[in-house]
Amino acid sequence: MAVALPVCVKDFEDFAQRNLPKYVYNYFAGGSSDEQTLQDNVKAYRRIWLKPRLMRDVSNRDLSTTILGQRIAFPIAISPTGVHCMAHPDGEIATARAAAALETGMAVSTYSTNKMEEVARSAPEGLRWLQINVFKDRELLKNFVKRAENLGFKALFLTMDKPVEGAGRYNVHGKFVLPAQYSLGNFQGLINVRSYAQTDKLRDKSATWDSVDWLRSITRLPIVAKGILTAEDAREAVKHGVSGILVSNHGGRGLDGVPATIDVLSEVVEAVKGSGVEVYVDGGIRMGTDVVKALALGAQAVFVGRAVIWGLAYDGENGVKKVLEILRDEFSIAMALSGCRSLDEISADLVEKRSAYSSKL
Ligand SMILES: Cc1cc2nc3c(=O)[nH]c(=O)nc-3n(C[C@H](O)[C@H](O)[C@H](O)COP(=O)(O)O)c2cc1C
Repeated sequence: MAVALPVCVKDFEDFAQRNLPKYVYNYFAGGSSDEQTLQDNVKAYRRIWLKPRLMRDVSNRDLSTTILGQRIAFPIAISPTGVHCMAHPDGEIATARAAAALETGMAVSTYSTNKMEEVARSAPEGLRWLQINVFKDRELLKNFVKRAENLGFKALFLTMDKPVEGAGRYNVHGKFVLPAQYSLGNFQGLINVRSYAQTDKLRDKSATWDSVDWLRSITRLPIVAKGILTAEDAREAVKHGVSGILVSNHGGRGLDGVPATIDVLSEVVEAVKGSGVEVYVDGGIRMGTDVVKALALGAQAVFVGRAVIWGLAYDGENGVKKVLEILRDEFSIAMALSGCRSLDEISADLVEKRSAYSSKL
């Protein structure tokens, strides 16, 4: 149990750093190579200023929105991250319960420790999506997709930015192995995978946009393209019939040296305008004001990865609830202080952006 009262996401991370085994903390916190992108994801939000409007009646604020037609109570959902049991023994079950209690959605990782069936059973009313990769073995991928459909998952998040593992030093180039007491639940009874080197082998490095067409041919679930960073790929994704785009650089764990996600968000939003495709963003979101900035720059909602891990490490389900509550409440305050009563009032003129990275816009 915790000894000090955490009041912001940073406090939860500090707690995790003090209390998780060093290699576990490093695994969750780390990024690729020199961690340029990992750090820039957070720093880029500090290069954006808010220009609030005053003297508006902000006594009642509606924080709710939808993701692919499903309501969430506030525009902060959970990005897929693997192996939650390493942060807390209750693992993804705890995360799913917290997400459902707070009325937001959770993307369950293909590499979750609890299998998707257990996760669904633990919070039947929760909104969930399944994160997938293109596996070489299409029958295995089909197996995952069909299970997600049967369990009532509402979309597939197809991760596109990691055909191979990133050069994370936490992983010493493929040597990271899951502790013996845990396994990757979704693969139980199918194949035995315990290491990054093994999961890396499952992925189809020859995958192209044709795989999206194939995926659409085998499922009625909408597809969210995860990992898009350019207007060109955004247009390609639209062409191949995705329903959503999650602008993401894998939290700095893929290719190091790519821009912060918030710096390319507007470019992607502009590229898909008029297509009906929703755009979300993840990476570096640590505070409610970050969420206001992302929405002002065109995101329909944001997703958080590590913040949830730190909540889990603090106190399982209760810790994740606390993290989500803090982010929600910070966001609500930031909305009020900016003069916004609903999400559609969070518009581009609320922000001034001095990006060190010059995108096309
Ligand atoms: C420990 C860890 C595990 C992750 N596992 C996955 C995964 O299994 N699939 C995936 O698509 N993204 C994965 N990601 C990336 C996240 O979905 C997300 O893009 C990223 O964490 C967002 O950045 P943030 O941590 O700064 O919020 C992982 C990220 C971390 C930190």
